[in-house]
Amino acid sequence: MKAIKKAVFPVAGMGTRFLPATKANPKEMLPVVDKPLIQYAAEEAVAAGIDTLIFVTGRNKRSIEDHFDTAYELERELEAKSKDKMLAVLRNILPSHVKCVFIRQSQALGLGHAVLCARPVVNDEPFAVILADDLINFSDKPCLSQMVDLFNFQHCSILGTQKVPMEDVSSYGVVDGIQVKPDLMEVSGIVEKPSADKAPSNVAVVGRYILTPRIFELLENTQRGAGNEIQLTDAIAELLKEQRVLSYNFKGRRFDCGSKLGYLKAQVEFALEHEEVGEEFREFLDSLAARESDKIVQMNKSS
Ligand code: G1P
Repeated sequence: MKAIKKAVFPVAGMGTRFLPATKANPKEMLPVVDKPLIQYAAEEAVAAGIDTLIFVTGRNKRSIEDHFDTAYELERELEAKSKDKMLAVLRNILPSHVKCVFIRQSQALGLGHAVLCARPVVNDEPFAVILADDLINFSDKPCLSQMVDLFNFQHCSILGTQKVPMEDVSSYGVVDGIQVKPDLMEVSGIVEKPSADKAPSNVAVVGRYILTPRIFELLENTQRGAGNEIQLTDAIAELLKEQRVLSYNFKGRRFDCGSKLGYLKAQVEFALEHEEVGEEFREFLDSLAARESDKIVQMNKSS
C-alpha cells in the first residue's frame, strides 16, 4: 500500500462553542501561547512525513490561507528592522517541500462531507485526517507519527482513540471491538455520539484518523446521521464490514480545544513548557496557587 503523504484538515466548522471569539475568526486560528491550533496540527502532519496538507475550508476561513502563505510586507518590515529571529519564525511555518491545497466546502453538511470534499486531491491513496481542535501534547513522538508507524506495519485504517469518562461518550464517535494489544483494538463497530446507556464502550475517537481511500466511495452513499449531518463515523461503520480497521490508544495528552475548559488547560500546559515564558509562568502559577490557598485558610479561620 502507498505511504501516507496527504493529510486532510476539515476546518469549515462554525466554532459555535467559542462565540464570540469565533464570530469573525476561525476556531482553528485561536492561539495556544503563540501558535494557532491549525499550525500545531500542520506541524504534527509534517513530522509524520506528510507533504500535502489539504484544508477543507468554509466561510470566514481566509485567515487560515493567509497563515500558510508568504507575508511579504511583514517579512520586508522585519528585514528592515533586522528582526532575524522573528523573520525565521515567519519563514519556517512550513518546510518548503510541503504543499498546501485549499478546498471550499460550500455547504456545512458534516465531517463526513468535509472529508469527501478532499477526494479529488487525495485520489486513491491512504491518507490522514486531523481535527485541529483536538490538540495533542507528547513527550516522545507526536500522535500522527505513532499512527503512521503502525500503519506502515498493519496497512489498514487506524482510528486514534482514548478512553473517556462514560458520562462524556455522547460527545464522540465510540468504538467496539476486540483488544489485541493493550493499546490496540480490532474494531467491530463504531457509533457516533451514543448516549451512555447505548455506548458499546468508553473508547472514543479523538480527532486523528488514517483511512484507506475506499472511505470516499462509502461517503458518497452515506446518509445524514447524528445531528442531521453526514458523519465520517457512519462511513467507517460501513468500511469495517469490508476491511480491517484498528483503533489505537495513542500516547500523549489530548486537549479538547473546542471547549473553553480544554482550551484553557492547553494554554497552561503549553505555556509551562514554552522556552521563552515557561519559567516565569511557572513562578506566576506558584504564586497564584499560594495566594489561593491562603484565601482558603483565611476563609476556614473566619467560618
Ligand atoms: C467529531 C467526530 C467524532 C469524534 C470527535 C473527536 O465530532 O464526529 O466522531 O469523536 O470529532 O473530537 P465533533 O467534535 O466535531 O462534534
